[in-house]
Amino acid sequence: MSSAIQTARLDWSSGEPVSGDYGDVYFSRDSGIDETRHVFINNNLLPERFAALAEHAVFRIGETGFGTGLNFLVAWQVFLQYAPASARLAFVSTEKHPLSVADLQQALALWPALQHEAAQLLQQYAALPPGWHRFVLEGGRISLTLLVGDALDTLPQLDACIDAWFLDGFAPSRNPDMWQPALFAQLARLSAPGATLATFTHRRCGHENPAARFTVEPAPPAAAGSTVKRAAGFSWPHLR
Ligand SMILES: C[S@@+](CC[C@H](N)C(=O)[O-])C[C@H]1O[C@@H](n2cnc3c(N)ncnc32)[C@H](O)[C@@H]1O
Repeated sequence: MSSAIQTARLDWSSGEPVSGDYGDVYFSRDSGIDETRHVFINNNLLPERFAALAEHAVFRIGETGFGTGLNFLVAWQVFLQYAPASARLAFVSTEKHPLSVADLQQALALWPALQHEAAQLLQQYAALPPGWHRFVLEGGRISLTLLVGDALDTLPQLDACIDAWFLDGFAPSRNPDMWQPALFAQLARLSAPGATLATFTHRRCGHENPAARFTVEPAPPAAAGSTVKRAAGFSWPHLR
């Protein structure tokens, strides 16, 4: 793995964070939370799976592309809402270009509804060198393991049993280097039986990557009246 990590270059001119490296948005300013709930939370069936956890159980989520941490903070909030008080959430994410502390603060200030979670993350977040970084949050109920580096380098070093995946690494047209069969082979290797995966960036990932071993199903559309803008192209696969 390269020892030099390039911090994300963000363009804030539109009021929402846009990647200068990939020319793509991290989230939509008006509908980011709705998109995360619709695409990643609901299509991985997380509310019902969290509610069904046994006392002291651990639920594991894996993500490609930590970015601003929006998906993580929403998953954390939903976990607190539905899971038994003794259950824990272990969230593992990968990031090739971590945000600077200032950019993370600016991005998370857009979400007052997530300030309880964001404040705790910001308290521990610092400039992140390559390697693994562990954050223990919410009195130990929530953990974040952030693998800083290219996901194709870091995931092969991981030993985990992931229950649900958030695939969020910019559109394949803008980031073809990440959406490789080798990535899907790692997702399959690291998945627990019955693991689910959700993405709005790569609807045909399972079909195009035999290594994936996921069965791809079309996901239901966003509810009528929803503010979700970018959810058209995701899939909802299950591990075979
Ligand atoms: C759409 S953003 C993620 C948004 C994020 N999940 C959030 O909640 O803000 C995509 C992220 O993937 C990261 N990324 C792109 N290629 C990567 C790779 N090969 N390995 C790890 N991270 C990568 C980018 O730096 C960026 O932060």
